[in-house]
Amino acid sequence: MYKPLVKPILFTLDAERAHHLVFDNLRRAARVPGTPTLLRALYDFQHPSLAREVFGLKFPNPVGLAAGFDKNAVLTDELATLGFGFVEIGTVTPLPQPGNPQPRLFRLPQDEALVNRMGFNNDGAAVVAARLARRANRQLIIGGNIGKNKDTPNERAAEDYVAGFEALAEVVDYFVVNVSSPNTPGLRELQEKKPLIQLLQQVQQRNQARARPRPLLLKIAPDLTDSQLDDILEIARETQLSGLVATNTTISRDNLSSEPGYVASLGAGGLSGKPLRARATEVIRYLHRKSDGGLPIIGAGGIHSAADAREKLEAGAALIQLYTGFIYEGPALVSRINRSLVRG
Ligand SMILES: Cc1cc2nc3c(=O)[nH]c(=O)nc-3n(C[C@H](O)[C@H](O)[C@H](O)COP(=O)(O)O)c2cc1C
Repeated sequence: MYKPLVKPILFTLDAERAHHLVFDNLRRAARVPGTPTLLRALYDFQHPSLAREVFGLKFPNPVGLAAGFDKNAVLTDELATLGFGFVEIGTVTPLPQPGNPQPRLFRLPQDEALVNRMGFNNDGAAVVAARLARRANRQLIIGGNIGKNKDTPNERAAEDYVAGFEALAEVVDYFVVNVSSPNTPGLRELQEKKPLIQLLQQVQQRNQARARPRPLLLKIAPDLTDSQLDDILEIARETQLSGLVATNTTISRDNLSSEPGYVASLGAGGLSGKPLRARATEVIRYLHRKSDGGLPIIGAGGIHSAADAREKLEAGAALIQLYTGFIYEGPALVSRINRSLVRG
């Protein structure tokens, strides 16, 4: 139903407007008695063989929703009916911020890709934490993806990550430190060894001081070199991370079929979707091999089919996430992947 009927209409609208339209309608529909049951019947496929335990959490299936779709945790109950094994909310910053001026989200239909420079638009950690505390579905595993406010200089970035962590610690199941978005000026410099160790140590110290520490993960860019990836593995060991999320969007514009003039006209931003698939898988395979499979990886980047999901899992991902594939393929993609995994 999504691809022949809904998507053609949505794709006539500005990409961010279409996103809000889907959001609002899903929320509204879910309030109509019977709709959540209908959505579950249509989309929620579960099977005992899909369950897996990763960094101490029991996931009903390995297919998650990547960060950025439900930044403010307004839709977690509704998303739970679509069959996701987990949902990562955020990126959340300590203070609310509007993000970059619009337009800031663009489609490249020929490439089945998106370019975004949202810039961490979000309601702020306190509001998001309160919202999560009120949610009805307590079973769905929630990841909390945290970042820094645009106005916070990099020298004080750790304070923002600690603040985001403290605000969300009681309401999320695992944390992701995001230093890999291309849309906050200077953020990716925090992926350098020295600042990154300091930042992660500060968050981890607070985490380990809690009665119930949460798994702490780091999300990385696909644009790192092998030697930078080696550094990441060393840092992960040193700061006792529970895992990595690989990868975020890319700043590369290589291997696109879309008209180069059009791509250039969109300006800066992170590219996601099909053109990212191969590089993201390569990063996952490298990290898995170099860590002897000792560090759980959540694999993301260009998963648009069951075959793409398998590729990530075979490269060493313990879990996978999607965003752009969800926009191009619709909600049935989640159950399509899970059904295929059960068939083996
Ligand atoms: C519109 C949009 C917004 C995003 N916002 C975030 C974000 O706030 N934090 C984050 O860690 N990743 C964000 N991402 C990156 C995704 O979580 C994911 O890592 C990336 O898009 C690759 O997966 P995909 O090809 O399945 O989309 C965003 C992606 C898109 C398309």
